[in-house]
Amino acid sequence: MPMDLDCAAGCPLTAPQPIAPFDFPVGQVRRVAPVGDDGDVDETRRNILKLAGVGALVLAGGGLGAAALQYAQPPVVGLTSYPRVQLIDADGRPLTIAAVEQEYSVDTSDLFIFNYPLRNEPNFFLNLSPANGQAPSPTNPGKWNAPGGIGTHGSILGYSAICQHLGCPAPAISYYPPGTCPKTFDNGALPFYIHCSCHGSTYDVTNRAANLTGPAVLPLPQVVFDTDSAGNIFAVGLNGPPVNGHLNSLQGDYGVASTVQLTRETPIILCSFPA
Ligand code: FES
Repeated sequence: MPMDLDCAAGCPLTAPQPIAPFDFPVGQVRRVAPVGDDGDVDETRRNILKLAGVGALVLAGGGLGAAALQYAQPPVVGLTSYPRVQLIDADGRPLTIAAVEQEYSVDTSDLFIFNYPLRNEPNFFLNLSPANGQAPSPTNPGKWNAPGGIGTHGSILGYSAICQHLGCPAPAISYYPPGTCPKTFDNGALPFYIHCSCHGSTYDVTNRAANLTGPAVLPLPQVVFDTDSAGNIFAVGLNGPPVNGHLNSLQGDYGVASTVQLTRETPIILCSFPA
């Protein structure tokens, strides 16, 4: 006896209903919820919006990065112009021309150093006059009327005390009075100079600290001095190349005060000169 296959339209035993074919090509994306009139998604517009979002994140990240760098790299400190700074002697008295010509000479073996114009820019303070007050000669070493010199005989000078080679500071770079080392220059007429014990650079104190021996190839910056009617000495500028280690001599630290005191240091002497 045949089975009764009569059942409702939804009965699983009824003949399979045809499946409606996809009405869009394979690979085309459709939005589930209809948007606008046709419900299609504008993929170009979506991608542009995605890119804009990514760009905004990148810009925001860049801004944060820049802000972080500001803290990682403190802003460069320095001065906008050279200050007028009065020099104070190592004993605390204002440094005058008269005092210098009495107390300092080409034979002064201790180093006298002052910082100018920044706190981390040391300079030599020198008087190249012979100690006996006589004019310099081959037998009486010294120098009058040196370029940039001040005082009665133009013999008072200041030079950067940071070597122009790799930046060794005083006292590794030192002033060498006559007779300190056997080495002389200008056929013996120049037995005093600034010499760096780090690698042997030597500078001519009588001529704007020009190079006498390498490896340094630049002269030392020279301090510009001025005086008032009482003979007080002021540093008012630097000439020559920038102080070694500074993009320019006015940037890289805070400026010194309106007065700066000389400090006394013991030189490091090494009579070693490049061949
Ligand atoms: S740092 Fe002075 S010679 Fe090298």
